[in-house]
Amino acid sequence: MRVRIDIIAGARPNFMKIAPLIKALKGSNLDYRLIHTGQHYDRKMSGDFFADLGIPEPDLNLNVGSGSHAEQTAGIMVAYEKTLLKDSSDLCLVVGDVTSTMACAIAAQKLRIPVAHVEAGIRSGDWAMPEEINRMVTDSITNYFFTTSKVANSNLSRCGIPDDRIFFVGNTMIDTLLANCERFRPPTVWKEIGLVTGQYFVVTLHRPANVDEEHGLARLLEAIVRGARGLPVIFPVHPRTAKVLEAVELEFPDLRMIEPLSYLEFNYLVKHSKAVITDSGGITEETTVMGVPCMTLRDSTERPETVTVGTNELLGTDSAALDPAFESLFSGNWKKGSIPEKWDGKTAERIVAVLEKVL
Ligand code: UD1
Repeated sequence: MRVRIDIIAGARPNFMKIAPLIKALKGSNLDYRLIHTGQHYDRKMSGDFFADLGIPEPDLNLNVGSGSHAEQTAGIMVAYEKTLLKDSSDLCLVVGDVTSTMACAIAAQKLRIPVAHVEAGIRSGDWAMPEEINRMVTDSITNYFFTTSKVANSNLSRCGIPDDRIFFVGNTMIDTLLANCERFRPPTVWKEIGLVTGQYFVVTLHRPANVDEEHGLARLLEAIVRGARGLPVIFPVHPRTAKVLEAVELEFPDLRMIEPLSYLEFNYLVKHSKAVITDSGGITEETTVMGVPCMTLRDSTERPETVTVGTNELLGTDSAALDPAFESLFSGNWKKGSIPEKWDGKTAERIVAVLEKVL
């Protein structure tokens, strides 16, 4: 009998991580079932990514929707447990660090279904980030750990995970980036305001620490616009941030707020920008590979190689740190960076090869 793997995806940053895995699984002797938890449900946060990346329709959607962390976690666990009780699988494969990742890992492991975690072992050390809790819980009940860096391997070893369960394979998000870079396409805003390569900035902000208080968010945006020195600042706004922004009046002519972009449009914009200002983790990996300067508005990162090897700098969350960073950028002193080990577009193949061996 063929072995079947449940592939779990729930929120936007999961979709680019599963796309290459599904492709690699199709060419293997393993079967899979794609389960969307429904954590993200807007077309712009979910459906467009499936279309852009050629991901097949999910076999099942748990339709959990929005809610508090406990509500979302519980909703996903209940729905996934029911699914497994009706029709079990041989492995639950989760990616990244979103609520869906942790919830499905728990539901599966309690039914004694082994768990594989792609992007295991990364740590920010910051328990105020819900993702950090998700990472720690998921890794505490994972059987097969697939890592993006040697630092992640060390973090896992320090937790007592035996070496033969840790596989340093690289980064599936970069598989997707490299497989699609020829297909990137300009978003509508490109023509609308006549953007020019290297002459505009891209901003993304959605972390509670940066966006949940409207005046703090306004101060950050003000510092970004000032730093940009008259160049356009394009800001695709996450739904969480959009809600907060409804409460403040922002009068920055150089700031262009737009709806979230699809994968191919967003990365076109990033690739051709002068620099990116973000509080995302995944985007710092993509800018590193594309060689685009990146300013991260966070105090810590679970992806240190984007700073030590790549083009990323951690600025913290105080808007005062932006002025010197823009100064360094405009004076041509931003580091060039290089590409972390095994971020070569072949990670999904390595993962599937390991799974074929161990399952
Ligand atoms: C989630 C992930 C975060 C990731 C981010 C990327 C967790 C804990 N966090 O955060 O790591 O970087 O996705 O996008 O899993 N909403 C919509 N439409 C949607 C989805 C959400 O309007 O399709 C709104 C809802 O009001 C919801 C809010 O956005 O309450 C937040 O969504 P949620 O899934 O709770 O977390 P994110 O902030 O998106």
